[in-house]
Amino acid sequence: MRRTIPVDKLTIGMKVVGMDKSWLETSFLSHTFTIRSEQDIDRLKNNGVSKVTVEEPESSPVETPEELSGPAASGEEPLAEIPEISSPGIREVRTLQKETVRLLQKAFEQSRLKNALPTAELRKHVRETVSTLLENPHAISLLSDIHENDDETYVHSANTMILAAGFAIRHQMEEGDSVRWGLAALLHDIGKTQIPQEILKKPGPLNTIEWEVMHRHPQLGFQILRKNDDPDVRGLAAQVAVEHHERQNGTGYPHKLGLDQIHPVSRSLMVLDIYEALTADRVYREGLPPRKVIQYLLEGHRDKVAMSITLELAAMLGIYPIGTFVGTNKGEIGIILDYSDRENHRGDAKILFLFGQDRTLLAKPQTRIVSGLDPEKIVRTYDHRELGFSPEQVEMLMSTAQKIT
Ligand SMILES: [Fe+2]
Repeated sequence: MRRTIPVDKLTIGMKVVGMDKSWLETSFLSHTFTIRSEQDIDRLKNNGVSKVTVEEPESSPVETPEELSGPAASGEEPLAEIPEISSPGIREVRTLQKETVRLLQKAFEQSRLKNALPTAELRKHVRETVSTLLENPHAISLLSDIHENDDETYVHSANTMILAAGFAIRHQMEEGDSVRWGLAALLHDIGKTQIPQEILKKPGPLNTIEWEVMHRHPQLGFQILRKNDDPDVRGLAAQVAVEHHERQNGTGYPHKLGLDQIHPVSRSLMVLDIYEALTADRVYREGLPPRKVIQYLLEGHRDKVAMSITLELAAMLGIYPIGTFVGTNKGEIGIILDYSDRENHRGDAKILFLFGQDRTLLAKPQTRIVSGLDPEKIVRTYDHRELGFSPEQVEMLMSTAQKIT
């Protein structure tokens, strides 16, 4: 027998089968569970739930027959599985990313004022990122949306650092080398501190003269970094700063060097740099989905950058990185949770479906294994904002799904 009661009337042992909020608005994927502690009741209240439908044995007295529109009671999930938001590594890397952006903002300010860079602090952040990624090697592929900030140069540099650190780790470099890669990535665009803001933040394409000014940033970066006291900054980071816009067969700038004439770190970083820039939202355009950027790097840009690096990047993140919203040919929409080949992010994909055929919201999300994500099955990707989710909700959904499934 079911009845609807205020949350305040819940007691330990009661079985909840519905609540007055959709699962989309709460941190519970399942609305069927047994109350095991006062904490469980508090969690319901904290989620803004005021009434719940409970199921009682037939012998219990019937009070209010009205039933709330919760999902069908199929299969009880213990409330212990109501999530604390904690996917391994995602939260740590996100926090580090935000702190790194803040520190970078300070560092770039110092550079604009021609003061010394806070190199020790920057190095500390890179080291922490490297050790977090070493502990959680898959966290990087969960960062499909790491573009949450207004100031694109700092965010771009912080994200490129995370990608570079992950890339170095993937190549089984020693921790010290991974930190050097990360530090070089973090500072590769420091020359932009010497470019006028009206050019840097112009909401639209630059004209020829503005491009000429913009193209000076690699050399300006080199000049800033080579004076630094830190040998890694005045060495590798300065070299990467001046080389990251060189391209195959001397088609880049400033020195028109071929890929074989530049440092291997610059060769890799240019790919990560382009990937990050194109997947990120900019003032004048939305970011492209990762699959399109990888395709662009492999096809449209194949005579500019090393294809092997693009393929390695695709394997590190996946063509559809974990956390991507994908749409099927039947109109279903789900979020990628995992792959059977976790090392290379391919094979069978575990997808948490939130919308069923023709994009109807499911009463309860469902996890399904989809073999081989070919373009016939997956017809498009969605930005979380397009579907009305905040980054926190996406993080919560994934964390919950990984615990329950
Ligand atoms: Fe650059």
